[in-house]
Amino acid sequence: MMNLYDHIPNNVNLSEDKKLQRALEKWLPNYLDWWREMGPDGFQEKDVWLRTAVDVGSEGWAHFDYVKMPEYRWGIFLEPPQPDAIVGFGDNYGRPAYQEVPGEFRNALRRIIVTQGDTEPASVEQQRQLGKTCPSLYDLRNLFQVNVEEGRHLWAMVYLLHGYFGRDGRDEADALLERRSGNPDKPRILEAFNQPCDDWLNFFAFTMFTDRDGKYQLSALAESGFEPLARTCQFMLTEEAHHMFVGDTGLGRVVRRTAQLMKEGDVRELSGIPLEIIQKYINFWFSYSLDLFGGEISSNSADFFAAGLKGRYKEREQYADHLATNENFTMTIVADGQLKSREVPLRNALNEVLRGEYVKDCEKGLARWNKVLADEGVGERLFLPHPRFHRHVGEFAGHTFDIEGNLISREEFERRKDEWLPTAEDREYVRSLMHPVYEPGKIANWIAPPAAGIKGKPFEFEYVRL
Ligand SMILES: [Fe+2]
Ligand SMILES: [Fe+2]
Repeated sequence: MMNLYDHIPNNVNLSEDKKLQRALEKWLPNYLDWWREMGPDGFQEKDVWLRTAVDVGSEGWAHFDYVKMPEYRWGIFLEPPQPDAIVGFGDNYGRPAYQEVPGEFRNALRRIIVTQGDTEPASVEQQRQLGKTCPSLYDLRNLFQVNVEEGRHLWAMVYLLHGYFGRDGRDEADALLERRSGNPDKPRILEAFNQPCDDWLNFFAFTMFTDRDGKYQLSALAESGFEPLARTCQFMLTEEAHHMFVGDTGLGRVVRRTAQLMKEGDVRELSGIPLEIIQKYINFWFSYSLDLFGGEISSNSADFFAAGLKGRYKEREQYADHLATNENFTMTIVADGQLKSREVPLRNALNEVLRGEYVKDCEKGLARWNKVLADEGVGERLFLPHPRFHRHVGEFAGHTFDIEGNLISREEFERRKDEWLPTAEDREYVRSLMHPVYEPGKIANWIAPPAAGIKGKPFEFEYVRL
């Protein structure tokens, strides 16, 4: 049942587990301290028209109202348990789902949860200055919506750590509030989450590409045979969809405005964002987000699949064979300074399989933006760089590729990288366009207004009361 007005809103009957409740209530003030220190800079006392989870059912789970961010009802919401839930894949396929952490995978599973959990506060930290340069109140509200929900996702992971991992889980939950994005002494775990996200083009690219990695990681964990994890991730995905909407439509609106300005004259002279800079931001965030899937050939991925802990994307829906023992996967790797193909057992290639699903999804976004260009009558097109380009994790890390995935020398990469990745001047130029627009119904010059407002409200609605 829903205990929405408990100190910690939840649908896991927290009040019946006093020990867990006490532990989480001890963590709560530390979380709020973190939020005030590292959450959105300013705006904490302002009324923001936010959506709050009030139920997990597909009908009307979200409630919209003005809320001050520190008073947001961060809660613990899991999808309801399925009767007769089974382990859906791997060596234990068909056995009853795990209600406790399988002993031999305890450390590995804790690592998965900590790594996922670490991304949630990290992104809030990366985005904390953006409110000061928002292109409209609509966008400002969307930024804060994403921020509070990432805060809730941190809660979701902390619930699992406290509830299922005892002492070391509690220590990990504390450490999640101690690391800081981009801090050389105590950085966040994954590199994409230490990159600066200090202008709105970065923000839209981040929510398009990096939050979308989150979707695929959560989807794989939503298949998990460890039921509390599966049910947690299933509900997080409903919130995550909005973050990707913000990125996808946000970039689409920048593309539309740029196309309009291209027809009027020189985009820079007209204070818009040139298409080639948008392309470079795509290249940057797409390549960093690909790294988040891990190595192409991975014994961890095989172990997690075998154990029934991390499945494939839509494992139940999309596959007939849930054992994946007899298949091979053909992979391109670098050997002796050349690209070669190699057969690997499918279970060892599951990071790459998941990455492939992600790339397909990203391509749909590119098609939408290119349709905007076509609709505006502009001939140029945007594209995804080759997945080998600019990688820091896996088979291609340590090698250098051009934007089409051809192996090139490090010297050539260094000589040409300014064609492909944002330069200091590009970033400086984008930043120079970022001036806040706080008047309801007004919008910055470098971006088009959205096609519609939020939840039936018009674009002119006062989404944040300043
Ligand atoms: Fe999240
Ligand atoms: Fe997200």
